[in-house]
Amino acid sequence: MPQRPALTVVPRHVAIIMDGNGRWAKKRGLPRVAGHREGAKTVRMVVRTSGEVGVEVLTLYAFSTENWRRPEEEVSYLMNLLISYLKKELDELCRENVRLRAIGDISNLPREVQQALLEAIQKTDNNTGMILNLALNYGGKDELVRAIKRIYRDVESGKFPIDSVTPDLIDTYLDTASQPDPDLIIRTSGEMRLSNFLLWQGAYSELWFTDTLWPDFTEEEYLKALVDYGKRGRRFGNV
Ligand code: IPE
Ligand code: IPE
Ligand code: MG
Repeated sequence: MPQRPALTVVPRHVAIIMDGNGRWAKKRGLPRVAGHREGAKTVRMVVRTSGEVGVEVLTLYAFSTENWRRPEEEVSYLMNLLISYLKKELDELCRENVRLRAIGDISNLPREVQQALLEAIQKTDNNTGMILNLALNYGGKDELVRAIKRIYRDVESGKFPIDSVTPDLIDTYLDTASQPDPDLIIRTSGEMRLSNFLLWQGAYSELWFTDTLWPDFTEEEYLKALVDYGKRGRRFGNV
């Protein structure tokens, strides 16, 4: 285990775009799904390390609203991997005092995935440590559409007037309601885009990119990202 650097500032909320599994596999002449299986090991590392250094919320982008475009075989492998991750990791998540949550439109996931998720969410609900958001069938635009529809219905039914709609009110209609916005968004694999991730919540996030492919992302590099974050000057529009 690498020597941990002292972190003077710890981001409250870290969000990660776990990218590069397919390329990791391709480089080794393996099928893409082998990269997803390997990437699950990196997930365990970031969950453990985040909890240990005092991150309050960790959000992992596991499946986007656009990922349904992938070959059916790959999609179903990812869904099964998720079920097996949840079953295998549930005890460990409880040992680590992690509260599991899901963000995204869960209602359109396969029934077995929904069941495994709900069970894991329930079993970790009384934990008091870090919140782990799994972003599943998640898209920032889709999340906003779902929020806008619910706000519209509440205005229509007289719950509050339209002029009460403020950024703070919108926050409470998002899947991340009551959680702090991500302080740091990390993306692996060299791509420098958000791919529809946390569009509203990421308005002032610090962005950190690495060429490392997700299965190769180590604790050492994760800690480097956290140290780098501590050196950023966050101004929020001020001087
Ligand atoms: C990220 O790795 C995992 C998911 C999107 C589920 P990719 O599968 O996107 O890997 P690359 O980008 O093709 O290498
Ligand atoms: C973003 O990665 C989604 C997840 C990590 C789940 P993608 O690999 O799907 O993103 P694009 O297609 O390269 O933008
Ligand atoms: Mg990708």
